[in-house]
Amino acid sequence: RKIRQEFLNFFQQKAHEIVKSAPIVVKDDPTLMFTNAGMNQFKDIFLGIKDPSSTRVADTQKCLRVSGKHNDLEEVGHDTYHHTMFEMLGNWSFGDYYKKEAISWAWELLTEVLGLDPDRMYVTIFEGSEPEGVSPDEAAHMEWRKYVQEDRILKFGKKDNFWEMGEVGPSGPCSEIHIDLRSEEERSKIDGATLVNADHPQVVEIWNLVFIQYNRKADGSLESLPQTHVDTGMGFERLLMVLQNKKSTYDTDLFDPAREFLAKKTGITYEEATEPQQIAMRVIMDHIRAIAFTIADGQIPSNTGAGYVIRRILRRASRYGFTYLNLGQPFMYEMIDLLEELYNVVFEELTQQKEFIKRIVLEEEKSFLSKLERGSRMFEEYLRDHRDEDTIDGVFAFRLYDTFGFPIDLTQLMAREKGRMVDMEGFQAQLEAQKSRSRAATELKTGDWVEVNPSSDLPRFLGYDALELDTRILSYREVQQGKKKAFQLVLEETPFYAESGGQIGDRGMIIQGDQKIRVLDTKKENELIVHLVDKLPQDADGTWRASVSPNFRKQVTLNHTATHLMHAALRETLGTHVEQRGSLVSDKLLRFDFSHFERVKLEELQEIEQQVNARIAQGIRLEEYRDMPIGEAKAMGAMALFGEKYGDNVRLIVFDPDYSVELCGGTHVQNTQEIQLFKFISESSSAAGIRRVEALTGTHALAYLNEQQSQMGAIHELLRQPKNTVKAIEDLIERNRQLEKELQALNAEKVSQLSGALRQKAEEVNDIRLIREVVRLSSSDDLKQLSFELKRSEENTLILLGAEIKGKPQLSLIMTDDLASSNRFHAGNMVRELAREIKGGGGGQPFYATAGGKDATGLPSAISKIVEMI
Ligand code: SER
Repeated sequence: RKIRQEFLNFFQQKAHEIVKSAPIVVKDDPTLMFTNAGMNQFKDIFLGIKDPSSTRVADTQKCLRVSGKHNDLEEVGHDTYHHTMFEMLGNWSFGDYYKKEAISWAWELLTEVLGLDPDRMYVTIFEGSEPEGVSPDEAAHMEWRKYVQEDRILKFGKKDNFWEMGEVGPSGPCSEIHIDLRSEEERSKIDGATLVNADHPQVVEIWNLVFIQYNRKADGSLESLPQTHVDTGMGFERLLMVLQNKKSTYDTDLFDPAREFLAKKTGITYEEATEPQQIAMRVIMDHIRAIAFTIADGQIPSNTGAGYVIRRILRRASRYGFTYLNLGQPFMYEMIDLLEELYNVVFEELTQQKEFIKRIVLEEEKSFLSKLERGSRMFEEYLRDHRDEDTIDGVFAFRLYDTFGFPIDLTQLMAREKGRMVDMEGFQAQLEAQKSRSRAATELKTGDWVEVNPSSDLPRFLGYDALELDTRILSYREVQQGKKKAFQLVLEETPFYAESGGQIGDRGMIIQGDQKIRVLDTKKENELIVHLVDKLPQDADGTWRASVSPNFRKQVTLNHTATHLMHAALRETLGTHVEQRGSLVSDKLLRFDFSHFERVKLEELQEIEQQVNARIAQGIRLEEYRDMPIGEAKAMGAMALFGEKYGDNVRLIVFDPDYSVELCGGTHVQNTQEIQLFKFISESSSAAGIRRVEALTGTHALAYLNEQQSQMGAIHELLRQPKNTVKAIEDLIERNRQLEKELQALNAEKVSQLSGALRQKAEEVNDIRLIREVVRLSSSDDLKQLSFELKRSEENTLILLGAEIKGKPQLSLIMTDDLASSNRFHAGNMVRELAREIKGGGGGQPFYATAGGKDATGLPSAISKIVEMI
């Protein structure tokens, strides 16, 4: 706490404004999933798209490097100084000071304020790149000479000393400060300068000073920015390691609570642990932080996008615990308390969301552990069925990976324990195939913007007041998403609402004379409002009429206001633990996720519905404040959502100051009466501790009720207009149950009769007793029962049955135990071969196997082929 504060104080004294960390989960930027550097939140300022509130700022930023250009995930745990989530201490100049101050202040802070030994430091500078047209960084070199000896100023190329945020975006040469923490003895043997940038765990980078002066464009070229900027980032955990004299970031006091916890849980202290156990402990200590902070910022583990990355991180930690530390029960959720105590001074989101995060983590752990268990069982079965094989099929390993979340190294480990190997080539081939399938479907390639009317101002959104206006096209571009080509367009002023806060983007037209361009969707890219259109203009110059489809907007707006009313009603009815966790407001329906720990009962839903409809009928007028200081808005009762960025001034939407007060950028009705009607259509669970409701408004709600009514009418007719419909259906179900029971009894009788007849027909082939027959049965279950029945109290017998069940041929091959243990036959292998006759496949265990196919006419030949096989 003290060190973090010292950093911030230092820059505050140098006239920097201290700002908050941006959320760790990035919204509205297609090039980035998570915040990977302190500078992300300032991207638009660097690019000259947005003006800064202050030209000097400093902060500590939560960063996550697990995807995209900066990805350290695989190293984490295996080495002693990388992290997935880490804090980056940074100071920035937006067109203000440059290299001289950045370098001298960094030096002053490290050596004078924090007291690091200058003799242990090395600095690196950019050596220049001819192909990029960037010359060596002489200015930084000159500056460093004032503090550091020449032989400690090292030059490196693009990989180390040219910083880029991603494939496109702000970039520039950088200068890094490295520190050598080795013992005097080691230092005298090997010159520290040779270990810089060489992955030595004790000679590490601690601070990166980036001199932002370019924008990397999609075509790969560098464009000079109108102004030069400073972006510095110092790894907080590494700084602690240096100041606390430790060999690893994991040995600093930041990780003490987690270490002690793990020691208690496992009975093994970190110091005593074997190397794989230490790795596992580091993985867990690291990953739990990434998990806690991303969930706190609103990202819930899921099967797609950012949610999937989080799920994988969580599973990686859980799996290391399971494999190396024998932690077969959920345990990570307990670590959230420890993190909260550690971070409550800086990151209040952990404090406020603690219970919620715990629940989510616990549920995820439980579900993954049960998958591990199921997968392990499948693995055992596989081994039994493939007793004679040394290698484990790559396709099977991939299935474990894909369906049960088994990381491949876990499968390899389990295989090794059984003296087998995994066919890694086969596995890789499957993995590649899957990757390229999903890449082809989602890869986004953007062309550069073609500027029609260059402007340094951000496009303006005027759609709160107008659905139609005359404007100019600023720029357009082509994008390629998977196989699909799409087009995008930016307007100087626009009535189109860009998707945000759950409200979907506006649709409509942009027209000039005969040129009619359809707007399919509108999205934000940082602060830019991007219209997704069906084609590019032939001639973009001149004035264009931009109009939002009024009906579309109206439907969306009804749903948005209804969402606010419902949110208030939910909190009033269920309690104030209800917090928004996700929201979709479209022209068709509204969907709302919120924290609540049990089903919302029907009576509760009805009560909420009634309350919302009463508010609608009351005709409450909209009170809208476009530019209210955030403090004032909070004082009026507005709640800020975690993971959302808010400016100093906010938009406040009020429907009755005593009822619904929300921070919101969306569009709303003038009077609640416009909504007419509100109707829930579903209530379900969306994730652990989160419920999801869907509802309709206006004519959609009415249409839904009508549809329900006609369905009821049809049911009533089908049941021949009973007095009590529910009772009639109950009777029907009961009768059905009776009939099924009777049918089962009949089938059992048939099976036993059949078995008697078939026993009579047993033949002898090569000293084996063989029963084979195509029988008439109506379910696979019956076929199985008959097979087992025939095997009962027999010896030396093979039974092959065929049947056409629901139009498809099936085979069942079983043998008596004595035959099975003689190892002369393998039912699985035999049935696989027989299945060819019915154009199908199958398999199973050595004593019993089944097959299914497509061609029932092949059943007799399968039945005769067994004779040859024997
Ligand atoms: N953007 C640079 C980095 O992330 C410095 O903050 O290393």
